[in-house]
Amino acid sequence: MDTIVSGMRPTGRLHLGHLHGALKNWLRLQENYRCYFFVADWHALTTDYAAPQGINQSTREMVMDWLSVGLDPTRSVIFRQSRVKEHAELHLLFSMITPVSWLERNPTYKDQMRELVDKDISTYGFLGYPVLQAADITMYKANKVPVGVDQAPHVELTREIVRRFNQLYRVVFPEPEVLLTEAQKVPGLDGRKMSKSYNNAVLLADSPKDIDQKLSRMMTDPARVRRTDPGEPEKCPAFQLHKIYCTPQEIETVSQGCRSAGIGCLDCKKIMIKHVIEDLAVFRERRAELEKDPSQVDDVLAAANEVARTRAAETMAEVRETVGL
Ligand code: TRP
Ligand code: SF4
Repeated sequence: MDTIVSGMRPTGRLHLGHLHGALKNWLRLQENYRCYFFVADWHALTTDYAAPQGINQSTREMVMDWLSVGLDPTRSVIFRQSRVKEHAELHLLFSMITPVSWLERNPTYKDQMRELVDKDISTYGFLGYPVLQAADITMYKANKVPVGVDQAPHVELTREIVRRFNQLYRVVFPEPEVLLTEAQKVPGLDGRKMSKSYNNAVLLADSPKDIDQKLSRMMTDPARVRRTDPGEPEKCPAFQLHKIYCTPQEIETVSQGCRSAGIGCLDCKKIMIKHVIEDLAVFRERRAELEKDPSQVDDVLAAANEVARTRAAETMAEVRETVGL
């Protein structure tokens, strides 16, 4: 059975973008692969080292969401990166063989240096972000890494590091392949990408009332100013959610109604909102159970950290011997 590794930085409560991006994909994968899914809390420190206070809480919240959507700790190893110290050791060994030029030319690095102007990320740790990621992936000898396009260069770098390691010493690691997640596009309430920092997200943990209120005021086709103006669904952010949640019949009715000004935007959105609320119902039930006793989350992590450590210890024994330490 092939092994999958993927991680997420602890960002707290997750939203519909995470659900239709990574999580639905992870749920599918856990049926057919040996999966390791982990909280990349050391990676969070690379950008948030100056304000690390939220990381523990965010880790709990995020794992609670993972379990609520159906990630299954009896199938997948759901652990926390910083609890498996071997990742730090392998990161160090990889850092010895990774040319700085590989890291400096990494497109994500260049983008982030340009974009994250409010944080000082001209650090050694941030430059080495993909080296740590390479350690995460190879520690479990992953064959496949499910990530979005933005992360593909990091997996490519992992492959380069693996090739270099295997060539310098002997073949220890498989070259992991990217499993590109073709995320369904989920726009936020204001039409931009859904993101916590834009404050435009529908959270998985939102109540039916919150969901209804948020989505009722979601942006629509800006050309539809009056009820009598016809609209174009493809120019309407809310309609992206219809495409995910509604039946083909409903999508057809709504599209026609929009183009002929036969339906008002609020009525149109209500059709979709009902499905979103229904779809998240199972999730809400599971989350309510977990919230009654949040120590369940700690228990899941504690057990999985142990499983991950055992596997990591095997890999590191092999690595130390190979490098000659
Ligand atoms: N860098 C990834 C992100 O920001 C998180 C991550 C860390 C990861 N280590 C990983 C993803 C290993 C896949 C495999 O989303
Ligand atoms: Fe969007 Fe529906 Fe309004 Fe058309 S009628 S603009 S699809 S919300």
